[in-house]
Amino acid sequence: MKIIFFETEPWECEPCQILKNEHEFKMTDERPAEDNAGQYADADIISPFIYSDLSADVLAKFSNLKLIATRSAGIDHIDIGYCKKKGITVCNVPAYGDNTVAEHVFGLLLTISHRLVDAVDRTRKGDFSLKGLEGFDLCDKTLGVIGTGNIGRCVIKIAKGFSMNVVAYDVKPDEEFASHLDFHYVGMDELLNKSDVITLHVPATKATHHLLSTEQFEKMKDGVIIINTARGTLIDIQALLHAISEGKVAAAGLDVLPEEPTVREEAELLRSIYQKKHNMETLLANHVLLRLRNVFITPHSAFYTREAVQKILYTTLDNIGSFIEGNPKNVCT
Ligand code: NAI
Repeated sequence: MKIIFFETEPWECEPCQILKNEHEFKMTDERPAEDNAGQYADADIISPFIYSDLSADVLAKFSNLKLIATRSAGIDHIDIGYCKKKGITVCNVPAYGDNTVAEHVFGLLLTISHRLVDAVDRTRKGDFSLKGLEGFDLCDKTLGVIGTGNIGRCVIKIAKGFSMNVVAYDVKPDEEFASHLDFHYVGMDELLNKSDVITLHVPATKATHHLLSTEQFEKMKDGVIIINTARGTLIDIQALLHAISEGKVAAAGLDVLPEEPTVREEAELLRSIYQKKHNMETLLANHVLLRLRNVFITPHSAFYTREAVQKILYTTLDNIGSFIEGNPKNVCT
């Protein structure tokens, strides 16, 4: 089999030796795109990370493709409809660091509640004054969790450790889990209306696109905190900016942004601006958000711990081995 791993880091080379021994194997830090996919056209198996844009146009360049083993939980970077049509199997890593992302949620939340960035900035300058640094307790605040899958559940467990009240919304509520952890499922409007902090843990789908937009922000408490570690497209970024400017949203902690791959690589934007349609208003809004003192943005690093990345790679190697043996695992198509 010809197997290509995209978007790799040097440490992944050694664990992948097992593929090198038995297959024609190549690792590259490149992302597959229309202009380079031709070089890999005869690959049987590819393993991308989330910044690979595997749209139908790019996938069409791979004439032999049998398996996409993405090294991620999310699959929104892959045109699943195209894969189904062409009989290409797609596997993911469904659960590798649920606690990892949940811990990051509280990293962002504590950054906001204890004003950690301002506090540390200040002491680095030798200033130990407290003026303007007053924070707030998480204890007894209401956390609204949208999506109670693997990550949402970990978030709820941690929230309980902080003695927060929890309300949750999910299209498939798990009442047994709710009674076990002593929280309530409520309708979306009630969650928006009751929560001091709202955190998102649903996948990016058509149904979740702009799940939080102007109408939803209007239903929230004044001074609500928004945390998003799921996907950037879940929030209408223009509506968020407006809600922040009005004081409806007091602060936001974001690990994900819409048009994120482009924000990551400004140079790419400059190169491709006339070739590919980017939503310039969204990009501009991202840049405004990046500069606000009450918005804390991390570079989609919620998953990025030593433990989680190892689990991602080893599960992917297992996904590939199982597919080759005829027993595919973690299949999404
Ligand atoms: P999961 O599949 O275990 O849970 C998703 C939950 O969302 C399910 O309970 C499902 O019923 C619910 N849901 C789906 N559509 C919904 C809708 N329209 N309204 C309400 N609920 C809905 O997923 P998991 O593992 O908890 O991950 C959640 C998301 O987090 C992933 O899809 C991925 O996009 C993101 N993620 C982000 C990472 C990061 O580094 N920032 C790392 C890993 C995942």
